[in-house]
Amino acid sequence: MSLLAVDGLEMRFGERLIQKDVSFKVEKGTIFAIMGGSGCGKSTLLKHMIGLLPPAAGHVTYNGVDYWAATESEQAKLRAGFGMLFQSAALWSSMTILENICLPMEQQTDLDAPARESRAREMLAWVDLKDFADYYPADLSGGMKKRAGLARALAAEPPLLFLDEPSAGLDPISSKRLDDLILDVRQRTGAAIVFVSHELPSLFAIADDGIFLDADSKAPIARGAPRELRESSEHPTVRAFLRREEPKSSAESAPAVTPSATTSA
Ligand SMILES: Nc1ncnc2c1ncn2[C@@H]1O[C@H](COP(=O)(O)OP(=O)(O)OP(=O)(O)O)[C@@H](O)[C@H]1O
Ligand SMILES: [Mg+2]
Repeated sequence: MSLLAVDGLEMRFGERLIQKDVSFKVEKGTIFAIMGGSGCGKSTLLKHMIGLLPPAAGHVTYNGVDYWAATESEQAKLRAGFGMLFQSAALWSSMTILENICLPMEQQTDLDAPARESRAREMLAWVDLKDFADYYPADLSGGMKKRAGLARALAAEPPLLFLDEPSAGLDPISSKRLDDLILDVRQRTGAAIVFVSHELPSLFAIADDGIFLDADSKAPIARGAPRELRESSEHPTVRAFLRREEPKSSAESAPAVTPSATTSA
């Protein structure tokens, strides 16, 4: 039985179809990538998986329990096993970083207040934010907020972690550091990690498996590890996405410095 199985999922907002026929499985300890162009429905898919949006059709099953057919108390029990980093980090702005990390532990663990705080401080040290416990989210940079969000999602050591674009907008070094943190979590806790990403280096470095959602056909068009899809997918959209050339820097593309200009200088 799979830790997580999505079966024939259909997502709609009102009459508008977002994606249909979405099916995949995620096993314990797997890092699973949700790929696809902007607006194809990746964040929406995560919201169906964590209990925020009911699907128009299909099933999301955790260890054989159908989430959307379960009772409210069964659903709450399942949700206690999820950690989530939203695309915007979604930290609570009126709370300090430390309080942000402590609050979900109140609902998800049996730890008492001092134990929660000590665990939160441990997590902050792990994401290099040891000295920022008493800061408010507004006083952190984008990358720091992402790391604080990751610490919050992970503090209760959930068996399932959902990360929406964890490294988007980060510089390459911060992005690599976040990849390393994600691999470290999998190693330490054996958690399954479902993540959304457009970052090719991250996709190739950390994902074992994945699915590619297509905005045009409104259905998945490829399934497998991103590094394998890069080599073997026949679908032009998947190839274009995964084999994209690195964008040229403006210095490289600017015509101003020509070899003759250099020699005559
Ligand atoms: N609450 C909502 N009500 C109506 N439509 C929505 C809602 N949330 C998302 N959508 C629509 O669903 C589609 C998919 O949005 P979603 O945010 O899932 O895309 P995405 O793949 O995560 O894109 P990105 O890569 O830009 O984050 C979009 O067309 C969006 O306008
Ligand atoms: Mg999104």
